[in-house]
Amino acid sequence: MKKKIIKIKKLKSKKKLVCLTAYSKPIAKILDKYCDIILVGDSIATAFYGMKDTKSISLQTMINHSVAVSKGIKKSVLVVDMPINSYRNFKQAKKNAKKVLKKTHCDAIKLESNGKNFSIIKKLVKSGIPVMGHIGFTPQYKKKFKPQGNNKKEELKLINESKEIEKAGAFSLVLECIAEKTSKKITNAIKIPTIGIGSSKYCDGQILVTDDLIGLSGFYPRFVKKYLNLEKILQKTLIRFKKEVLKQTFPTKKNTY
Ligand code: KIV
Repeated sequence: MKKKIIKIKKLKSKKKLVCLTAYSKPIAKILDKYCDIILVGDSIATAFYGMKDTKSISLQTMINHSVAVSKGIKKSVLVVDMPINSYRNFKQAKKNAKKVLKKTHCDAIKLESNGKNFSIIKKLVKSGIPVMGHIGFTPQYKKKFKPQGNNKKEELKLINESKEIEKAGAFSLVLECIAEKTSKKITNAIKIPTIGIGSSKYCDGQILVTDDLIGLSGFYPRFVKKYLNLEKILQKTLIRFKKEVLKQTFPTKKNTY
């Protein structure tokens, strides 16, 4: 296992992991200094391509963006999300994950748990492919948004699922929109770091979709904190640009050859 991945595992309970998504080189380059993990998430489908969900993004699109992102990264661990139809069985998962690793030089792949695909994770890890797991509200498999783990039955199911994924050899686990009490129990029940999105401060790290955090996606559920309103800043900038073009105060001599 790569040193970078071992380091992430060792950080559990020592330092909170800072994780964000990137879809392009310029954004990855800015994030790299501040992040432990940068994920090329399949959220690119909705946040970047304006698709209605994450189900129809292609593996090739994920690879293209990951190649760009990897050019902006010097130190962070680069994880690439596998689209839903790219890991239906081990043979397909191995072929596609190897292709992703080879073409993008990423450090690991992420796949969503459907409560049954533990053996795929196990065999991928055995073949030398580092895997990040993902449980809770898993957009690839769930139709309607609903926070998870709010009752005893769901809590037990999620704890068992996280233990199975740890046993399969995943190096970390994303917990998406899991109730605070349950995510705390999961984090205490396993030795690999949990990375929360809408799953409370008790996780070992936090991840957000960067476009949500900077106010560019138009998608702001309760678990998102909009640290910046880039949409507003862009609007103000564009008003100035338009005014100057119309008044012919741009371009000036300085901008002209
Ligand atoms: O696709 C994505 O960006 C993700 C994160 C939200 C964890 O899976």
